Amino acid sequence: MSSDLVIAIDGPSGVGKSTVAQGVASRLGLPYLETGAMYRALGLEVVERAIDPGDRQAVEALAAGLEMSLDRQPDGSFEIRVQGEPVGSRIYGLRVTGVTSRTSAYPGVRERMRELQRTCASENGGVLEGRDIGTRVVPDTPFKFFLTAAPRVRAQRRWRQLKDAGAEGLDLDEIEREVRTRDERDSSRVDSPLTWDETYRVIDTGELSVAEVIEEIVAVVSARAPAAPEVRPGS
Ligand code: DC
Repeated sequence: MSSDLVIAIDGPSGVGKSTVAQGVASRLGLPYLETGAMYRALGLEVVERAIDPGDRQAVEALAAGLEMSLDRQPDGSFEIRVQGEPVGSRIYGLRVTGVTSRTSAYPGVRERMRELQRTCASENGGVLEGRDIGTRVVPDTPFKFFLTAAPRVRAQRRWRQLKDAGAEGLDLDEIEREVRTRDERDSSRVDSPLTWDETYRVIDTGELSVAEVIEEIVAVVSARAPAAPEVRPGS
């Protein structure tokens, strides 16, 4: 394992980045940072402190002063702590998801998060997953992957996830509308919009299984890494 090896995986909501990033990290014996969880942790603070998510100044001031730490866990992930307390699964609630989609657009928020993410990458190396990892956080890494899938495909996957979790009365069209709304917010913000350039390898996951996507990324990295990491068999 090399702390020099940094792999950026970017893409829209619901494309399967987290599962893929975790799989790649475990195959290559690298740590894994879910940067969306950091934006969500801030969103949770905004909700809990009853700050108006539309009040850019207040949200940016919160981001600048918040004590946020990333504690590496034995499984390679990072536990996010805010003011010393682990944020836990509350960051995935519906309300926090909606608030985060707005508060993550503010430049002061992004600046703070990028700083934490860069420090984490330079100290640990690893697989970083998000929206602007290869464009803004670690633009110098040679390993950049952009995952895509049509909104309908992502909505179907989300529908399946919710259904498996026991949800009822799901409306696929409604889920697709939510996917498109978040895409629009991620892609149209002025500071580091969701995008990719020619330094990325774009992978359309629509017709691929999770295992196939992981395999493709591991193969590219193993072939080109300066000191090729040991690849564990299977996933
Ligand atoms: O990946 P996710 O859906 O958990 O991300 C949560 C929110 O954070 C989402 O609104 C997009 C935003 N985000 C971002 O702006 N930049 C990142 N690097 C990661 C997430």
